[in-house]
Amino acid sequence: MNCRKFVEEQVAYVRKSVGDAIAINALSGGVDSSVVTALAHRALGNRLKTYFIDNALMREGEPERVLKTFARLGIPVELVDARKDFLNALKGISDPERKRQAITDTFDSKVFGKLVRKSRAKFLLHGTILTDIEETVAGIKRQHNILVQVGIDPEKEYGYAVLEPLMTLRKDGVREVAKVLGLPAQISSRMPFPGPALATRIVGEVTEEKLKTVRAATSIVEAELAGMKVFQYMAILLNDYATGIRENKREFGQIIVVRCVDSVDARIATAVRLPWAKLERICQRIVEIPGVNRCLYDLTPKPPATIEYV
Ligand code: XMP
Repeated sequence: MNCRKFVEEQVAYVRKSVGDAIAINALSGGVDSSVVTALAHRALGNRLKTYFIDNALMREGEPERVLKTFARLGIPVELVDARKDFLNALKGISDPERKRQAITDTFDSKVFGKLVRKSRAKFLLHGTILTDIEETVAGIKRQHNILVQVGIDPEKEYGYAVLEPLMTLRKDGVREVAKVLGLPAQISSRMPFPGPALATRIVGEVTEEKLKTVRAATSIVEAELAGMKVFQYMAILLNDYATGIRENKREFGQIIVVRCVDSVDARIATAVRLPWAKLERICQRIVEIPGVNRCLYDLTPKPPATIEYV
């Protein structure tokens, strides 16, 4: 694929489709939504309204980092603080599928749905890629068209149209286009991070306290393993307590699992044989997190495990 030609064609397509109207999109900081944002901004300038929705489930400093990156690129992004909406929606839910559903519903109807309805935008840009379409058709993934999920027939009810400029690309293509658009390596080669974010790394109910713990563990794992040429690494907080001793006193502490896997396309994965000294160092740092007294390394391949825990 000629990436420069692709960018030119898609910029022209977005410009022609939107005309003098306004378009909106949601930016997560992942490579797909970042590329759509950069491409549509090139096409529309300030007629593109981009929102970054803080769902309370992000990693340490993530909203600030994404906003700063785009500010440096001269692309305005509006931060929407929806932390309370998501935390409330997740209250009391332990079942993995119900947790995911609560996040999707909150995003669609409560947060982004509202922005879509409120704005005078006639176009919504979406970072759908070819793999998403194939998985939807194969029944692996749910339909990803936001408006349809919100229960809106975009054309009929509001005259909205959804534009999906990346729908002919796969992930490797999107990463190449990211480079051509001048996005930093931090975005173009970003490790996968799921949409439901840290909620996929807390077994059981998601609370602010548990988010704080898993966020701290995530920062340690990401700092210690930065630069490793592997598919993905992460920290998970289990929903259980183990006996330990601290300052000569018995305590029940929380348990963090470290996972580091190699994979080509996330369909199958194997645990990486990390150096023992590296694992020991990660463990030492993790058991310094308040409330945590055990750190485990997950050796399970996918299948039978999945990469995430929820
Ligand atoms: P699993 O856990 O199914 O994950 O083995 C496979 C890959 O997909 C990522 N993942 C997600 N990505 N939304 C996403 O955008 C999700 O809901 C989601 N769930 C899992 C996961 O991080 C891994 O790379």
